Amino acid sequence: MFVSFFLLWLFICFFIVQIKSRRPKNFPPGPSTLPMLGNLHNLSLDNPLRDFERLRKKYGNVYSLYLGSKPMVMLCGVQAIKEALVNKGLEFAGRPRTLILADYGPKWKEHRRFALTTLRNFGLGKQSMEDRILGELQYIIADLENSIGSTLCPQVMFHNASSNIICQVLFGMRFDYNNWTMKEIVRCFTENAKLANGPWAMLYDSVPMIRHLPLPFNKAFTNIAICQGIAVPWINDHKKTRVPGQPRDFVDCYLDEMEKRRKDPSTTFSEDVLSMYSLDLHFAGTDTTSNTLLTAAFCSSERCQEEIDRVLEERDKACFEDRHNMPYVQAVIHEMQRVANTVPLSVFHNTTKDTEVMGYTIPKGTLIIPNLSSVLSEEGQWKFTHGFHPENFLNDQGDFVKPEAFMPFSAGPRMCLGEGLARMELFLITVTLLRKFRFIWPEDAGEPDYTPVYGVTLTPKPYRMKVQLREAS
Ligand code: HEM
Repeated sequence: MFVSFFLLWLFICFFIVQIKSRRPKNFPPGPSTLPMLGNLHNLSLDNPLRDFERLRKKYGNVYSLYLGSKPMVMLCGVQAIKEALVNKGLEFAGRPRTLILADYGPKWKEHRRFALTTLRNFGLGKQSMEDRILGELQYIIADLENSIGSTLCPQVMFHNASSNIICQVLFGMRFDYNNWTMKEIVRCFTENAKLANGPWAMLYDSVPMIRHLPLPFNKAFTNIAICQGIAVPWINDHKKTRVPGQPRDFVDCYLDEMEKRRKDPSTTFSEDVLSMYSLDLHFAGTDTTSNTLLTAAFCSSERCQEEIDRVLEERDKACFEDRHNMPYVQAVIHEMQRVANTVPLSVFHNTTKDTEVMGYTIPKGTLIIPNLSSVLSEEGQWKFTHGFHPENFLNDQGDFVKPEAFMPFSAGPRMCLGEGLARMELFLITVTLLRKFRFIWPEDAGEPDYTPVYGVTLTPKPYRMKVQLREAS
């Protein structure tokens, strides 16, 4: 009797799931689905990027997949991504999870506007942000000088430096590279970058009934709790030591703003949001910049060094304005971002209302994956699609130009909020290090392995570099 009921129940579940995952009318095409799993069996657990490319070739630039019973739409190529994220920006501006980066709504809007203004006031485009980056560079230089004649693993150094730069903007402090707190924060961020967008995160999103099971995605929540445990006392310290109206950093600005809005019943500003939001910014600003820089170490060239020497002459440091006189260095940095493909699937979006893209109907609440990887290597958009070619960003006169398909920060209202800071970091760090050092692949290290490690960020496999002072070369 019990067995019959169980089988009947199983059959009904099967039936419901099958019906639910049947593609709606005029929905983008895609491979057929399995009950419960949807298309998860079509994707490699280690790195689904190749599978996504295979599916693009078969179904076109807009196709659909099911994660469990949940539909998602993959957007590939400049045309589809621009139509959705730019032309219909607000219709595609939602986020599937409210935990990591707020969904579209007043909370996101107000916080995004506040964060952009605050980052600008802390010197984006002005001197003081440059000073923070140049200040951190002194520690990177010291680390590299200690390694002259031997080899060094740049991964740890770049992660620590990127974390320190954004940490100074947010909390007004930095840490020594072997400080425990620093190591713990970077560990949590790098682990979560691998978990987010990965298969376990997709399963978490699409099969709610497994959310309470002891599966690997729990690690992400443990890591968030660890970082919160570190950041909340910092915020409490700020509350004790701040002088209202004289902010020292982002947290002080937020507390000022919270006070200003205290009487507004609809305010979205609160201490809970602050601790989560500052963590989002810290996370978003660490693994991204550092993994781009890690790719850079492969790409340095003598021509960059000649241009840097010519422009800086006897000056002791570079400034962000110098980029206008360094078209080749600019081209190298942009090509490095294209090749690094640091955030290959962007951060997932959600549709906020029923909409359309490239003639297909997309219902409200559909998970959208903007495949930035497909744009950064899209045939027809680049002079050279494969390999490392700074010429992609130079015109016939040798001036720097930025093709439309350069979208490592995504596009539209949800595009990277830290683009200004990231561009300044990439320029100042690359120029300062190339001016002073030569980075050499150690003879005994074998051939470099360019296979990246997949996650919300793509990471080069850990490697060691030999460091030489340029004068000594
Ligand atoms: C090379 C470095 C970086 C790259 C390649 C990068 C790339 C991206 C991408 C692709 C997105 C998703 C945009 C979308 O959903 O359409 C994003 C979002 C975001 N990034 Fe960055 N990012 C970088 C550095 C930074 C830095 C330094 C910060 C710190 C201030 C930052 C803060 C953010 C935030 C807060 C969001 C979410 C924006 C929102 O939901 O409104 N990023 N980034």
